[in-house]
Amino acid sequence: MANEIQRKIEQLTEELNHYNYEYYVLANSLISDYDFDHKLKELEKLENEYPQYKLVNSPTSRIGGDITRKFETVVHTWPMLSLSNTYNESELRDFDKRVRKVVGDELQYVCELKFDGLSISLTYEGGQLQRAVTRGDGYQGEDVTTNVKTIQRVPQVLKGSDYPDIFEIRGEIFMHKTAFEKLNAKREKEGKQTYANPRNFAAGTIKLQDSSEVAKRPLDCFLYFLYSDNRLERFETHWNSIQAIQQWGFHVSEHTKLCNTIEEILDFVHYWDEARHDLSYEIDGIVIKVNDYRFQEELGFTAKSPRWAISYKFQAEKAVTRLDKVTYQVGRTGAVTPVANLEPIVLAGTTVKRASLHNANEILRLDLHEKDYVYVEKGGEIIPKIVEIDTYRREKDAQPIQYPTHCPECGTKLIREEGEAVHYCPNDTGCKPQIVGGMQHFVGRKMMDIEGLGNETIETFYSLGYLNKLSDIYCLKDHALELKKLERFGEKSISNMIKGIEASKQIPFEKLLFALGIRYVGETVAKKIAIHFKNIDNLMDASKEQLLEVSDVGERIAESVYDYFKNEEHISEIQKLRNAGLQFEIKPEEKQESQKLEGKSFVISGVFKNYSRKELSDTIEQNGGRLLSAISGKLDYLVAGDKMGPSKRIKAAELDIPILSENDFEKMLKGN
Ligand code: IVH
Repeated sequence: MANEIQRKIEQLTEELNHYNYEYYVLANSLISDYDFDHKLKELEKLENEYPQYKLVNSPTSRIGGDITRKFETVVHTWPMLSLSNTYNESELRDFDKRVRKVVGDELQYVCELKFDGLSISLTYEGGQLQRAVTRGDGYQGEDVTTNVKTIQRVPQVLKGSDYPDIFEIRGEIFMHKTAFEKLNAKREKEGKQTYANPRNFAAGTIKLQDSSEVAKRPLDCFLYFLYSDNRLERFETHWNSIQAIQQWGFHVSEHTKLCNTIEEILDFVHYWDEARHDLSYEIDGIVIKVNDYRFQEELGFTAKSPRWAISYKFQAEKAVTRLDKVTYQVGRTGAVTPVANLEPIVLAGTTVKRASLHNANEILRLDLHEKDYVYVEKGGEIIPKIVEIDTYRREKDAQPIQYPTHCPECGTKLIREEGEAVHYCPNDTGCKPQIVGGMQHFVGRKMMDIEGLGNETIETFYSLGYLNKLSDIYCLKDHALELKKLERFGEKSISNMIKGIEASKQIPFEKLLFALGIRYVGETVAKKIAIHFKNIDNLMDASKEQLLEVSDVGERIAESVYDYFKNEEHISEIQKLRNAGLQFEIKPEEKQESQKLEGKSFVISGVFKNYSRKELSDTIEQNGGRLLSAISGKLDYLVAGDKMGPSKRIKAAELDIPILSENDFEKMLKGN
């Protein structure tokens, strides 16, 4: 029993940390807010009952969030806390009771919309915008001033003159629904990755390195909170401060209301639960704040959130419809994804015709049958999911949905590796979506960057028989005369394409390795493998064990790379690409900055002050060191940051492996 609880705590911690990372760092929401909070509360409850099992990295002891390293980090003068969430009336009534118990019955609340964007903190000095910082982990965020300056709605210079000399203002950056749909559709057409929702689009945009690109994407910003040294004396209440900031030129929501009773608050909440669909932007709840600053001070804060405010989150919308049929899509990597085709219904303002079923396990979990009535829910994602089935309405002789045994595109028997949820079609050299998708991946901007050869052209050339495998791309020039005669292609476009193809021969090895589309080998892993093995021959000869020595390469990747280079067709393709003159070797100048760490191997663990983990691993490699993924007898050093787990320390001590602090490491690098 105790063991089970410990395991449950570990599992919830890992799962929630993963969602947090995806959400805050990568701007992906993998789970609805409702489900997230539910799981968090479950974990919190277990931790309270069994504090001995609480982990140091528990998501309950942090506000959530993480910091990517591209922008300068700024410590917040006032921490950017989150709000505690409720999903039902009775919790809201409890909040009201708690507040009244502390400050008495003579009070007012301000009810506001909870904008679904990303929070930002703006600092003004002498009426001018000085700095814009993201929330980050709540204590320190990233300086995104240049990007925020492109937002028209954020004033760079204030109106009037009665603003405090220095103050900070908090708000939410977001994208309007129509702009999101338009820009996302454009991205889809261009073969770029699309964003799941306006929130992620806004979050992705604000973290772009190129602010001229930010300026092209229309962002908006509502401001909702003021911090300044003398705000209590000057404004007395939150409401007054909001009136004032509006006068100074800030964009403030018009849908804000003063309420005296919990009934008025509930009316506001219910009204917006319906009316939110008519807004041009997304909101995910209502924020209720105690109006009087003195009362706010009296109520104070918990470690994570103010006691004087709460957010009421709307439930994700659910609706019932009927399954028409399940179809199966084959992706570039051969992964087969089942898709539920539904009788169209309107959900949260849009018509839904399809829902992802993820994999065979999901079909089993739902116990999906033909023509079932299903509940679909739109969480954070644009693609809704089936959350439940109305089994009462199932027809008597309805058959369960059977996962196909063979590829719907090429008829090859599907495989499913042990422990994997996904079915794959293994015929990567003979299955249309894999061949075409593989080539489209190959020419992409982050891979071989062949501009004149777009997704549609690849499809056309495939159906005309010019492109069947990657190496055919480098033979297109032999068909130039015929191609130039094709409808829709002119002299110029074919010449440009051939130029682009020729130029791609200089693309460095690591990008080429990523371009090959080896399953599970993404951009970062490809780079690590390229630096580790230096050239394709070493890589092709590598055993699984040698592959596992590369940091970030685990069993799954090692197995996939190993198998890839055992395939005769892949070997023959690589030979052809080599003959065409592509780069299958790291260029000498890319290899190293210094040889200081030559011959030494490192494992890094924990959090570092002066480096992100990626920066640290790059530094090691650029100075000739090698990264290993696990502590073993072969290891020379363990570099330990903060928050490193005890197990690594113990293992290193057992094997007599020196443990370096960040400081020690820097000394070593300087050569002392
Ligand atoms: S007030 C200390 N007001 O919700 C209180 N927050 O879960 C500061 N949010 O990080 C927040 N609309 O990004 C406040 N009208 C509103 C809001 C709002 C959206 C976001 C904000 C915050 C999160 C808290």
